[in-house]
Amino acid sequence: MKFFLDTAKVEDIKKANDMGVICGVTTNPSLIAKEGRDFNEVIAEIASIVDGPISGEVKATTQDAEGMIAEGREIAAIHPNMVVKIPMTVEGLKATKVLSSEGIKINVTLIFTANQALLAARAGAAYVSPFLGRLDDISVAGINLVKDIVQIFKAGDIHTEIIAASIRNPIHVTDCAMAGADIATVPYSVLEAMTKHPLTDAGIEKFVKDYQAVFHD
Ligand code: E4P
Repeated sequence: MKFFLDTAKVEDIKKANDMGVICGVTTNPSLIAKEGRDFNEVIAEIASIVDGPISGEVKATTQDAEGMIAEGREIAAIHPNMVVKIPMTVEGLKATKVLSSEGIKINVTLIFTANQALLAARAGAAYVSPFLGRLDDISVAGINLVKDIVQIFKAGDIHTEIIAASIRNPIHVTDCAMAGADIATVPYSVLEAMTKHPLTDAGIEKFVKDYQAVFHD
């Protein structure tokens, strides 16, 4: 399973990129709004840091296929690594079909059922984004959705990549990797939490102490 960073915060993207573990970035209208910066400017900056797929979503207020198609073309023109993120609606599927047939990569987002993922894949999506955390929030086990999509795509020989999204903690990450998700898009806080273990810290402390006791260095 590969990692994308799920943020529009440039400082976090730089830190994660320096860590050497991410190969892409996902954003959404809420994440862009949180930064309060111009969409094109922030996306171009992200693309200059990470050499991999960058998902930029159509405006939340654009809900018809025609509008999404026009905006999708603009987003794709920002950088060759751009992926256009489109919400899972009938209009979104229509836009996915048109844009993907033009060679533009589409990430269909807000996937909450396996059937939605199947439809998105059939419309030509390069990626689907099932949202685990938001399902967990309403007492539905999000991981089962990822498992179902993995199984359905395998059975149908579908090559659309599964981006496990709405990841809230390191256990989600392990579960998604075990389920066979292609990618997990994670906030920086989760990536950082994944690096930590108290025995690692204790081990470093002991190595320092033992070394210094003999070499006084
Ligand atoms: C995915 O692409 C979304 O940007 C994101 O994972 C949503 O996560 P949230 O449910 O924590 O807002």
